[in-house]
Amino acid sequence: MGFPIQRMRRLRSSETLRRMVRETTLRSSDFIYPLFVIYGQDKKIPVNSMPGVFQFSVDRLPEEIKEIDSLKIPAVLLFGLPEHKDSVGSSAYQDNGVVQEATRLIKKICPEMLVITDVCLCEYTDHGHCGLIDQKGVVDNDATMGLLAQEALSHARAGCDIIAPSDMMDGRIGYIRKELDDNGYKDIPIMAYAAKYASSFYGPFRDAADSAPQFGDRKSYQMDGANIREALREVALDIEEGADIVMVKPALPYLDVIKAVKEKFAYPTAAYNVSGEYAMIKAAAACGWLDEERVMMEALTSIKRAGADLIITYFAKDAARVLQKL
Ligand code: PBG
Repeated sequence: MGFPIQRMRRLRSSETLRRMVRETTLRSSDFIYPLFVIYGQDKKIPVNSMPGVFQFSVDRLPEEIKEIDSLKIPAVLLFGLPEHKDSVGSSAYQDNGVVQEATRLIKKICPEMLVITDVCLCEYTDHGHCGLIDQKGVVDNDATMGLLAQEALSHARAGCDIIAPSDMMDGRIGYIRKELDDNGYKDIPIMAYAAKYASSFYGPFRDAADSAPQFGDRKSYQMDGANIREALREVALDIEEGADIVMVKPALPYLDVIKAVKEKFAYPTAAYNVSGEYAMIKAAAACGWLDEERVMMEALTSIKRAGADLIITYFAKDAARVLQKL
């Protein structure tokens, strides 16, 4: 009798066979590409800590949108860099705000592309926190609700397809859902940043979106990285309040959370492969220490294997290009 009977290597012997028994495959339709929209004209400003990522003024978006569309990436996630910041983030909920204008433009030039808008105040407040600050210097949960709802509503009026609240205030999904429903937008889905951790992997994003908190940190509203049971409670609450898609963020250091969320709730699950995860790979590749393309595809495949149905990633264009070659 031969030894061993089961030889796992039999099915690994050629690329064709490996391709046939592969359990997880990426498609460009898995991806959502984040875009930073900046106030002003004729701007395409590189983000230093995120090679290949730019801040675009609205008039410079068409070329970028055409490229994203040609790569068959179905959706973008918009972040705004406004002209003015103040303590209540007024630029977030103006109908002529940067995100609102970008939404109108994208829906005009590429109607089939889905526009998802990030709903948060941190890019619009002078203190850089995701909500209003009370007398004691604490982020005021309930006072923030109304502003987030106004922001979501103005995105809906501009024609966005999906609302994505990223602030982590308690009760905001239900509050925003009601505001949308009461104003005739009952069919706009909410993608909730449900389990969003207070992560140091957001560093480069805060350059890109100019949204670093000016004092303190976000630990009183974003989650402690050590917790997974709490993540399941967060997701349960957002679903109860009306979330259609639930998100785990970041992705790679939290693959166990993605898996647990998918298994427990079986809801459409998004994972945000955040700025720091992107920057680490870009930096190591620039040093010649890693093969960028292979590491990127391996990382994205692992996020999907963990259970993500949707992957928000700055690699979307690069990965879609690789997939086109296959
Ligand atoms: C806004 C927001 C952040 C990210 C997405 N939405 C920053 C933060 O919470 O500090 C991070 C995305 C990334 O790092 O790529 N609240």
